[in-house]
Amino acid sequence: MDSLRDVKPIKLIFSIFCLVIILSACNSTAELPRFVQPPEPDGSLSFLVVGDWGRRGSYNQSQVALQMGKIGKDLNIDFLISTGDNFYDDGIISPYDSQFQDSFTNIYTATSLQKPWYNVLGNHDYRGNVYAQLSPILRDLDCRWICLRSYVVNAEIVDIFFVDTTPFVDRYFDEPKDHVYDWRGVLPRNKYLNSLLTDVDVALQESMAKWKIVVGHHTIKSAGHHGNTIELEKQLLPILEANEVDLYINGHDHCLEHISSINR
Ligand SMILES: *[C@@H]1O[C@H](CO)[C@@H](O)[C@H](O)[C@H]1NC(C)=O
Repeated sequence: MDSLRDVKPIKLIFSIFCLVIILSACNSTAELPRFVQPPEPDGSLSFLVVGDWGRRGSYNQSQVALQMGKIGKDLNIDFLISTGDNFYDDGIISPYDSQFQDSFTNIYTATSLQKPWYNVLGNHDYRGNVYAQLSPILRDLDCRWICLRSYVVNAEIVDIFFVDTTPFVDRYFDEPKDHVYDWRGVLPRNKYLNSLLTDVDVALQESMAKWKIVVGHHTIKSAGHHGNTIELEKQLLPILEANEVDLYINGHDHCLEHISSINR
C-alpha cells in the first residue's frame, strides 16, 4: 500500500505535465517541418521548378517532361520543386488513384529527374482528396514524392519555405461555384491562416541561410490571366519583405514572368 501511495503524486505530476503540454500546443503555433537537402561538394545547388502539370501526359506535358529530363541532365540538378496544381482537374481521389502514375511516375521518367520532388498544393489539388496527396503512401509508391502543406527545406546556402496559399483566397470559400474544396485540416480558417503566417515569419527570422526563397502556388504579383492575389499581397508579402526574402516562386498563371520590385 505504501508503495502505491508513493506512486500517486508522480502520476499527478505527470498528468499536470501532459496538460501543460496540451495547453501550450493549443495556444502556440508549431514549428514548420524541415527537410535537409545536401548541396553539391562545392556548396552549389541546381533545381528545376514546374507547376500546373498533372495532365496524364496531354497538353504537351510529356514533351515538357522530355525537355526537363535533358536540361536536368545538363545542369545535374539536385532536386525539383512543384508549385502545385499537381493533378488536374480535381486533384486525386485516393493515394491509389491512377492519376499519380499517369501524371507523375510514368511521365517524369528521365534519369536526371529521379531526385526529390518538393511539392505544394494548388487550388485544383484542393478540389480532390487533400489527404491523399499528403499521404506517406505516395512516397512508398514513388520515393521522389514529398508533399506537405507548408514546410522548410534547408540546403545550406539557401532555405526554401513552402507555403500553402490556397486557403488564403477568399473566392474559393465565398464563391466556390460548382467546385467542392477539401478544407479538412484548414478550418477554422482564420486560426489556420494566422498560425501559418506566424510559423512562416518565425522560420524566416530564424533562417541563417544566405538566400531565402519562398514557394507557393498562387501569384503575389502577376501580369498574367489570374493577376495579383490581393490576399497574399496584404497578408504574406509584408512578411516576405520584412524578412528580406530574395525570391518568391509561384505557379497558377500559366506563363513565364520575372517580376522585380523597385522598392528594394
Ligand atoms: C502542344 O504544343 C503544340 C506546339 O506548341 C501546340 O500547337 C498544341 O496546341 C499543344 N497541344 C495542346 C493540347 O496544348
